[in-house]
Amino acid sequence: SASSLVDQFGRHKHKLRISLTDRCNFRCSYCMPDQPEWLAKKDILNFEELLKFATVMVSMGIRHIRLTGGEPLMRQGVVHFIQSLSALKKSGLQRISMTTNAYYLKKYAHDLKLAGLDDLNISMDSINPATFLKMTQRPLKPVLDGIQAAVDASIPVKLNCVIVAGQNEHEIVELTQWAYQKNLPLRFIEYMPLDAPTHWQASKVITEDQIIATLASHFHIEKQHRLNDPATIYQLSPVSDHPLNSVNRPFELGIISTISKPFCQTCDRLRITATGELFTCLFANSGTVIRPLLQQDNTPLLQQMILQAVWHKKAGFIAQQQAPVRKISMHAMGG
Ligand code: GTP
Ligand code: 5AD
Ligand code: SF4
Repeated sequence: SASSLVDQFGRHKHKLRISLTDRCNFRCSYCMPDQPEWLAKKDILNFEELLKFATVMVSMGIRHIRLTGGEPLMRQGVVHFIQSLSALKKSGLQRISMTTNAYYLKKYAHDLKLAGLDDLNISMDSINPATFLKMTQRPLKPVLDGIQAAVDASIPVKLNCVIVAGQNEHEIVELTQWAYQKNLPLRFIEYMPLDAPTHWQASKVITEDQIIATLASHFHIEKQHRLNDPATIYQLSPVSDHPLNSVNRPFELGIISTISKPFCQTCDRLRITATGELFTCLFANSGTVIRPLLQQDNTPLLQQMILQAVWHKKAGFIAQQQAPVRKISMHAMGG
C-alpha cells in the first residue's frame, strides 16, 4: 500500500532500532572513543517526540522495536518510556527489545519486565575478567550479575560477542562452553568498521568460517537457518568425550557475519539516532532529519518524509563493501 515501509529493492521494514542516548559507561575499543564528547540534552529527542515517532512507525508496519544506545539504561526515564511503548502492542507492535551491556541490569531487570520489555541482547565479549577489562575498560562482575538478574526476572537473554583478532579470539571455545552450560543463546559477531577510534582493519576480522572451524573439534555443528535475522543459526552438541556431554540438550549458536556474508538482501530494519535522524542503513552516508516534523502537528507530512527516506534506502554494505565517510560512529548509531 501507499503507506507501507518498503524500499526500492522491495525490502519491507518491520524492525526499528531507537537509540535513546549516545552515552555509554563502557569504552569498548571496537566502538567508543577514549574521550567521547556527548550530545547536549537539548539535542536529544524527548520522550514525547520518541513516542510520537514510534506510534507513527507502528501504524506504518513496524512490529519490533529495539532500544539501543550508547547504553540505553543510561537514559533517565527509560522504564517509563517502555511502559508507554507497551501501549502500542494494541496497535500492531509485537515485541520490545533492548541491547545493553548489562552493567545496570541488576538494578533494572525487574522493572523492565514489569514495564513490558520482551527480551534482551547483552554484550559480553569475554568470560575472563582480565580480557574483559582490556576490551571494555570496565569490570566483568556487574555484567555477570546483570545477566543473572535478567534470567531471574524471566527476561529471555541472548549474548552478543564481538570477536576481534588478537583480543578475544582465543576465547571462542570457552565462551561457547560457558553459554552452553548456562543455556544462554550466544551470537558471535564479526568486527565491523565505523568504530569511533577507527581501529578497524580487515585483518582484525575473525570470520564466520574461522569461528566454525575453531569450534569444530569440540562440537558437532549443524547449520540451521537464516531468515530475516542477522545471525546464521547453528545447532551444537558436544563431541563424545566432551565434559558438556552431561548437559543433555543441544545449544543454539548464532554468527552475525556482516563482513563475510552480509544480510543486506533481506534487511528489514530502520534506525533513528538519539538526535532524531532516520538512518535506513547502518552504513548509510547520512540520515533524514525527522525532529522538526515531530514537533509539528502534521502526521501526513511526517509519514511522507519517512516513506520517501525508506524508499531510497541503498543496497547496503553488500554493495559498497566499505565504511562510509561520515562523523557519526557506532556508539551513536546504536550498533
Ligand atoms: P535480534 O532482533 O535479536 O536479531 O537483534 P539484532 O541482532 O538485530 O540486534 P543487536 O543490537 O543485538 O545487534 C547485534 C549485532 O548486529 C551488532 O553488532 C549490530 O551492530 C549488528 N547489526 C544490527 N543491525 C544491523 C544491521 O542492520 N546491519 C548490520 N550490518 N549489522 C547490524
Ligand atoms: N562491530 C561489530 N559489532 C559492534 N558493536 C559495537 N561496535 C561494533 C563493531 N565495531 C556491537 C556491540 C553490541 C551491539 C549493539 O553492537 O557489541 O552488542
Ligand atoms: Fe541492512 Fe545496511 Fe546492515 Fe546491509 S549494511 S544489513 S542494508 S543496515
